[in-house]
Order: sequence, then C-alpha cells, then structure tokens
Amino acid sequence: MQWWRDAVFYRVYVPSFTDSDGDGLGDLPGIRNRLGYLELLGVDALCLSPICPSPMADHGYDVTDPRDVDRRWGSLPAFDALLTDAHAHGLRLVVDLVPRHTSEGHNWFRAALASAPGSSERARYHFRPGRGDGGAAPPNDWPSVFGGPAWTREPVSDDADGDDGRREWYLHLFSSAQPDLDWTHGEVRADLETTLRFWLERGVDGVRIDVAHGLCPPADLPDLAGDPRLDQDAVHDVHRTIRAILDGYTGRMAVGGVAVAAPERLARYVRPDELHLAVDVVLAHAPFDADGVRKVIEGCLTAVGAVGAPATWMLADHDVVRPVSRHGGGPAGLARARAMALVQLALPGAAFLYNGDELGLPDGAVPVEARRDLVWTHPEDSRDGSRVPLPWDDTLPGLGFTAGSSWLPIPDAYAALCAATQLEDTDSTLSLYRQALELRRTHAGFRGGKPEWFDGPSGCFAFRRAGTSLVCVLNASSAPVPLPAGDILLVSGPLEYGLLPPDTAAWLS
Ligand code: GLC
Repeated sequence: MQWWRDAVFYRVYVPSFTDSDGDGLGDLPGIRNRLGYLELLGVDALCLSPICPSPMADHGYDVTDPRDVDRRWGSLPAFDALLTDAHAHGLRLVVDLVPRHTSEGHNWFRAALASAPGSSERARYHFRPGRGDGGAAPPNDWPSVFGGPAWTREPVSDDADGDDGRREWYLHLFSSAQPDLDWTHGEVRADLETTLRFWLERGVDGVRIDVAHGLCPPADLPDLAGDPRLDQDAVHDVHRTIRAILDGYTGRMAVGGVAVAAPERLARYVRPDELHLAVDVVLAHAPFDADGVRKVIEGCLTAVGAVGAPATWMLADHDVVRPVSRHGGGPAGLARARAMALVQLALPGAAFLYNGDELGLPDGAVPVEARRDLVWTHPEDSRDGSRVPLPWDDTLPGLGFTAGSSWLPIPDAYAALCAATQLEDTDSTLSLYRQALELRRTHAGFRGGKPEWFDGPSGCFAFRRAGTSLVCVLNASSAPVPLPAGDILLVSGPLEYGLLPPDTAAWLS
C-alpha cells in the first residue's frame, strides 16, 4: 500500500506548535493534545521537525544523539504515546532525521577535536589542513549556506605547544555548530542504518531526510567550479541503502528535502530504488504568477513522471516566508495564499502543508532583540517570522500556545486568527482547508491523472485532472474572469457577480 503517493502531510514545527508544560516551547504532549484538531483538519500524516537531543544552535537541526528525544520536547515514552495516539486518530507519523551533519556537541565531534590530525576520530568528519602561510586560510573556497566560509579552524587546544600550523579546519556547509560528516566513512553509514531501524522499530510510518542532496561532496573537496558541494552522484548510493532498509518494513516511506537546480535533478532522488518522495522549495519561492506556477508544475510532473514517482508539492516550511506575507500581506496576500492552497491540493501527488498555513497566518514580526534564528546577519535574513508559535484560542493566556512565556513573541495580530474562532467561521481559512481536504478525500476527480491544461484569459490558468471532470482554475490576473462550465465545488474567496475575482482559485466538477 503506497499511502504516501497522494497523502497530505502536515509539518509540525515542534517548538511552535503547542506547549503543554509552560516552558514557552512546544512539546510532544502538546502535539498529542491537538490530534483531534489535526484529524478534524483532515490531513493524513504528521511530519515533525527534529526531536532528537540538540543544543538548539539550529533548533534541532544540530543533533547530539539521533536515537533519543530532547528533554525539551519530552522523552521516548512521550514519543511512543504520541505515535500510538496518532495512529488511533488515523494519522501517520514521520520523523525528521538530520544525517548530513552532527552537532558540534556530538560525542564523535568532541572526540575528533580531542584527537590529533590524521586520527581515526577525525576521519568521520572533513578535517583538512589550511592553505597559505601557517595554514591560516581555509582549505578551499566554499561558502556556507548560511553565509561566510564553510570552514572553521579548530580552536587552540589547552595543551597547545605554540605550533599553530597544526590546527586543522573542519567543513560545515551550514553553521560551524553543524560539522559535516564524511559519508565515505563506514561508521557514518552504519550509524544511519542503526538510527533508521531505531525509529522504524518504534513504528514510525516514515522518515524525512534533511538536505538529502547534500551528503557526498567529492573526496578531494575541489574549489568551486559549478557547485561541487551539493547534488553529487555519490549521494544516490546512500539513498539506495536507505531504501533497502525501508523495504524491509511494510508501508514505510522516506521523503527527502531536496533543493537542486532542475526538476530532472530532483527526479533522480525518487528513482524506483531511492527515496519515495522528494520535496523541493520551488513552489514555495514561486511568485504569484499563473504562467510561472504552471511552468513549475509541468516541469516537476514531467521529470518525476519519467521515473514513475509522484510529485510532492510544498508552499511553505520553517525556512521560508509564509505565503500570506510572501504574496504581499494584507487581504491580497491572504487571498493569494488561499488560492494557491487550492492549486496545491488539486495537483496529483503528495502535498506538504506547514503548520499555521491552514490559519492563514502571516509571518510574525520578530523584533531584532527577540530573534532566535542563527542565520540572520541582517534583519531580513531571519527565518523566525515563519516560526512564531501558533494561535489556538484567544480566551486563553498565550493564545492557547503556552501558559508561560512564548520562546518567540506572538504578535497581537494573531489573536484574530486563532484556530478556535476559525473553526466556527465557515468563511475562515481553516474552513477552506477543511473543505478542500474533505473534497480531496471523497471526490473521485482527485484520483484522476495529470493536469490537462486549457487556454484561458491571460494571467489565469485552468486544468482538468485527466479522465475526470475535476477542474481547477486560478485567476492571478488583475480582472475578474468567467468560470468554465461546471458545478462549483469550492472557491477560495467570494465570486463577484458570478465571475472569479483576481487572487482567487476555484474547483469545479
Ligand atoms: C534544512 C532545514 C533547515 C536547517 C538546515 C540545516 O535545510 O530545513 O532549517 O537550517 O537543514 O540542517
């Protein structure tokens, strides 16, 4: 049973979902308390942000032990309880693994720093002597994804004898708190296998592989010429190993976070013996433009179709600006975000929703002094805006997110967007999502084939799911347009005298 092929996954950013113990951070019991909400929403699976022990330099994407739960979120028994209850609510559960790097606090990395250059302890990471005078320059010219060089020189050790030139550099494509593992090392690969089995034996339905395209740089770590840091052929062997392990269990899946240059490159990650799904950020970066969105959709469907894999559509996650804000904020931003949700959910394949998008949340404005994201070097770089905690109930302290003091400030504007209020309002964004997900489950059109596009007014598109009567129309132009023939199933905003207004999408049958 390949349940993931058209599943709707709901990404829970654990720190910001629900806090059950008043420490201001979300946690696993908090998620457990909201399973009824998620069932009502109508998603198929939860995909949790990383829950393993971490010093939180990158909010869990820096792991010290991949086979335990950080005490901030709970414990392994709390995880097991969540998993059992999720299954009882008909929800599947996926955990996010971060295999490409560890935390600088991981025992392996501490042992590496405590050991001499050339030691076996260092061989699990990429340690290299520096270039230039006294080795004072990084071993190559690679930048980190977060800015600055991808190399940090090891600190001067306590027993330094003054021979600074022996100090090596270590590679980190993200922050210096996230040293990169060397995937040619047998123990590194064996450890991922142990980790996969650990979570699969506990009963998880799937795993997410973070930065799945970024595990295997060329062994000689050459200077930039193209971009040798990411998307190298050798990585596919790791994914074949992951797949072989998953294939030993029933009904389990792996989804990769894959950000590559072209859909054809993405498709290589979902070949029949590799990952089941790969999620890219292209649609989450696409402007609100019918031709551009159509191009992304067609490119992706053609590429993954060629390898027999389903597409995976994502409009947002914890790394990007929320759709409402990205599309301009205010009523127009919200209208566009709602329209894009109907486009996303009408497409064949799997969909990833990001928590809070079903409430139509804009990014929260986080004052500079309250910023928590490590990547920001100047204000607009921060990813904190899309990580602001969710508003649940405006009659409760902390809007029902926490009884304590929220780890990121919740803006006043979120009070009007609480889930409890939206559940009662048939025009709310939450109601739109619930209706869309219900139709997606029950209407045969959503089991149809690829989109068949038909011509429409400029700035608009319309497609029919092949072999069915289901039509999705998007009006991204600045004028109202007539709807094609058919019964309206759902509209993302009110019609104007029977016409589909700008910034609006509709489903017809
Ligand atoms: C992924 C995560 C991001 C994190 C990075 C490094 O891209 O989505 O939040 O910073 O990996 O682990």
